[in-house]
Amino acid sequence: MTAFEPIHGQPYDAVPYRPDRMAADESVTRSAELRRRMDERRTVRMFSADPVPEQAVLDAIAVASTAPSGAHQQPWTFCLVTDPDVRRQLREAAEEEEQISYDGRLGDEWLTALRPIGTDAVKPHLTDAPYLIVVFQQRYYLDENGEKRKHYYVDESVGIAVGMLLTALHLAGLSALTHTPSPMRFLGELLGRPRNEKAFAVIPVGYPARDCVVPNLTRKSLDQVLVRI
Ligand SMILES: Cc1cc2nc3c(=O)[nH]c(=O)nc-3n(C[C@H](O)[C@H](O)[C@H](O)COP(=O)(O)O)c2cc1C
Repeated sequence: MTAFEPIHGQPYDAVPYRPDRMAADESVTRSAELRRRMDERRTVRMFSADPVPEQAVLDAIAVASTAPSGAHQQPWTFCLVTDPDVRRQLREAAEEEEQISYDGRLGDEWLTALRPIGTDAVKPHLTDAPYLIVVFQQRYYLDENGEKRKHYYVDESVGIAVGMLLTALHLAGLSALTHTPSPMRFLGELLGRPRNEKAFAVIPVGYPARDCVVPNLTRKSLDQVLVRI
């Protein structure tokens, strides 16, 4: 396999882009269906151990990797973790940090914001869900001379990619959780990631447990989030 060559410093080159134009009514039919499907997505914290098709997970990661990114630098790595030993270590390390957080590190305001979500320091999804995707952002890269090269809009790019990942998983009939343990340094250490990578989120993937419940939340309506000018 050829290593990926970043396009830093290469000259501009253009190719034609002429996707078929969709009929207006077809666009609306599809957008309405997507809106309905996506409104069904919920963050799941109680997973079944039932196996899920690995190809669907790989396809979702491939979808995420089509995301737009600042200067097309694609500053992401998706670490797919299935090894039970590693998963156990991740859970131990995460729960240790979370315990400190819930015992006070988060502060009253944060803990109050979390109350309706019902979360605590116990993180069974780290060992229960069949797949764990740990997303890393590449803060910079090293060029062919070993020189550090800046990546632009890393947070925004990786955030968009994760949004696409969650969408792809949901549309493939799978459930996920966006877990952001804080601090996250232990993830890079346990998974042996290079220095330029910083953990962004831990995403367990699987089917909901039979007795799964989710917090009863309402979403803002279109009117509440849309400003027309
Ligand atoms: C950036 C981000 C970080 C999150 N971190 C956590 C987390 O650490 N633990 C957790 O249980 N849920 C986490 N969530 C999930 C949110 O609590 C969840 O998306 C929200 O309550 C809305 O629920 P829904 O996804 O079912 O619509 C996170 C979500 C986002 C977008």
